[in-house]
Amino acid sequence: MLDYQLIDSGEYERLERFGKFYVVRPEPNALWGRTNTNHVGWKSPDARFEKKWSFSQASLDDGFEISRGNHTFFLKPTSFRHLGIFPEQEPQWESISDFIKHASKPVKLLNLFAYTGVLSVLAAAEGADVTHVDASKSSVVWAAKNAQLNNITTVRWIIEDVRKFVEREVRRGSTYDVICLDPPVFGRGAKGEIWRLEEELSGLLSQLKKISHKETMVVANIYATATYPESFKRVMEEIFDAKGRVILTPTLLTESDGKSQLQTGYSLVIKN
Ligand SMILES: C[S@@+](CC[C@H](N)C(=O)[O-])C[C@H]1O[C@@H](n2cnc3c(N)ncnc32)[C@H](O)[C@@H]1O
Repeated sequence: MLDYQLIDSGEYERLERFGKFYVVRPEPNALWGRTNTNHVGWKSPDARFEKKWSFSQASLDDGFEISRGNHTFFLKPTSFRHLGIFPEQEPQWESISDFIKHASKPVKLLNLFAYTGVLSVLAAAEGADVTHVDASKSSVVWAAKNAQLNNITTVRWIIEDVRKFVEREVRRGSTYDVICLDPPVFGRGAKGEIWRLEEELSGLLSQLKKISHKETMVVANIYATATYPESFKRVMEEIFDAKGRVILTPTLLTESDGKSQLQTGYSLVIKN
């Protein structure tokens, strides 16, 4: 498990522990009151984002490491208020690792909008043949650093617009056993191509269908969209010919009281 805990949330903020550091960030979904108001992390966090970051010690701005079992990842506060990891994706990391572990042949995994490469590293560590695609050079450099921290040398790094890369793979006739995508609502390709989730997702899924096979596992994460989750589920069922096989699950973080949960988005999974 990741050395991480959502401690508490409320009043439009969340308090988290990343390794030994307490971090407070805005959380528009935390409509409720806080449970643990006296927690030291609320009073004097190591890092807090309010329009911009402030730190208890300046060195935190340069980043720090966090562990997950025998793996290590580099985190760094970014201007988007992220730290380079989405801890709510833990159940997916586990189920993808399980899929790779139990597959009867080496698994080819395509990681799209792959960001800092946590999934790429974990999948490669299980022996998957990983292709990591992201349009941002700095994200790929960060992901490569995460790979290096874990002695992973096998990942194929691609800095490109996801749509362009996938089109090329369609022309080449490539297929993948696992396809993961973590698209933002709005983004840009490597040459500034505009990505808008609601307008582009079904086109991308249609191309992905062409590089999948009957047994391909597809895992999509969706955050902060105006479109209802059931709409994405339906389009995935249609495109992948997977009626009744798309599992829609909220991505949740459980707080330190062991009960309260914060939803951060949802995932859509097709698994045979
Ligand atoms: C931060 S991650 C995951 C975001 C998460 N799902 C969310 O919405 O908060 C999104 C990644 O997609 C990449 N990205 C955005 N548009 C892209 C595109 N058209 N092609 C390739 N990568 C893109 C960004 O560089 C970033 O690393």
